[in-house]
Amino acid sequence: MNPVKLTENVYWVGAIDWDVRDFHGYSTNRGTTYNAYLIMDEKITLIDCVKKSLQSDMVARISEIIDPAKIDYIVVNHVEMDHSGSLPDMVKMINPEKIICSKMGEKALLEHFHQKDWPYEIAKPGEDISLGAKTLSFLETRMLHWPDSMFTYLVEDQILFSSDAFGQHLATSERFDDEVDQAVLLEELTKYYANILTLYSPLVKKLIAKVKEINLQIKMIAPDHGVIWRGNPGMALEYYDKWSQHKGDGYAMIIYDTMWHSTEKMAKRIGAGLQSEGISFKLVNLRYNHRSDVMRDVLNASAIVLGCPTLNNGLLPRMAGFLMYMRGLKPTNKIGAAFGSFGWSGESVKLLNEAMAVMKFDVIDDGLKVKYVPEDKDYAHCIELGKKVGQALNAKRAE
Ligand code: FEO
Repeated sequence: MNPVKLTENVYWVGAIDWDVRDFHGYSTNRGTTYNAYLIMDEKITLIDCVKKSLQSDMVARISEIIDPAKIDYIVVNHVEMDHSGSLPDMVKMINPEKIICSKMGEKALLEHFHQKDWPYEIAKPGEDISLGAKTLSFLETRMLHWPDSMFTYLVEDQILFSSDAFGQHLATSERFDDEVDQAVLLEELTKYYANILTLYSPLVKKLIAKVKEINLQIKMIAPDHGVIWRGNPGMALEYYDKWSQHKGDGYAMIIYDTMWHSTEKMAKRIGAGLQSEGISFKLVNLRYNHRSDVMRDVLNASAIVLGCPTLNNGLLPRMAGFLMYMRGLKPTNKIGAAFGSFGWSGESVKLLNEAMAVMKFDVIDDGLKVKYVPEDKDYAHCIELGKKVGQALNAKRAE
């Protein structure tokens, strides 16, 4: 198991999870990595750990450099189990002098592992910890991704160990951004932000502003998932800056589920209406698209048109589940509209509108309902709805 050198005396010693396909409901089609880093100095320091099931990979990589028992400090940037699952065994193996974490990190570690006698050391922003030749400083980054999250900055090497932030669920044999397909990298960076961080965009915005304000010099961003930003760390920062503002790229998404194809037929005509206004759109059938892939595209969409027939006075379960997921992530600044077929009671469009109102979408129409199966006059209404959404997008673009 080869460790990978980042700079002099700094190594990646994490683990590659080629097999994981579901990460608490997020589809990880390309697997992921759990990144841990080893700093060789007077005080040998391990930054973060890995998922318990891959602990032996990390230990093997560390052992290529040094006997793990010789590690002095363990930094815990984030307590979620994908990074701390192997911590109890590592503490036993290492008997560290310090476990460095945020104040909330100490609390979360106690609540996870119930070890009152571990040697916790609270990392305080502005108070550096010297390792000998190298120095660690810390940024509090609560809620990116949990209350305990923090970043560790290696001053002399200008490496930002950013925990979950700037990560990607991407298993590769390569370790750096400049070694992988850039389209794949951007796709996975986008999906990660959309599904993990959209909700915390106001905090991301503050973080980016803070990094600019203190003029933090960054040669490398070393996240806890995916590749390390060595070639172009500015790319990760620029995209996070953009996404935290929820500006949208001007395209629309028609996201729907269908029972006997009536809502599907409506969706296609709404797309035609959008196209006639010069708007790009994505037609997304929830039966065939995983919610986390849909959210990846929602992140940059400027309009969301939701379609669903009525089932048992409500929504089809896939749409109901998707709405719950999307609502939790709180995408904002979207134009919204709804449509759907029905047989007798017809509540779906009202429910879709209500869900969009909760998310503070700008719902521009009462929505379009069609009884059972659409005919030509209904198709005309669908095209009109698409045009209306397109015109609203064009007006927004012209503002
Ligand atoms: Fe990768 Fe929030 O854990």
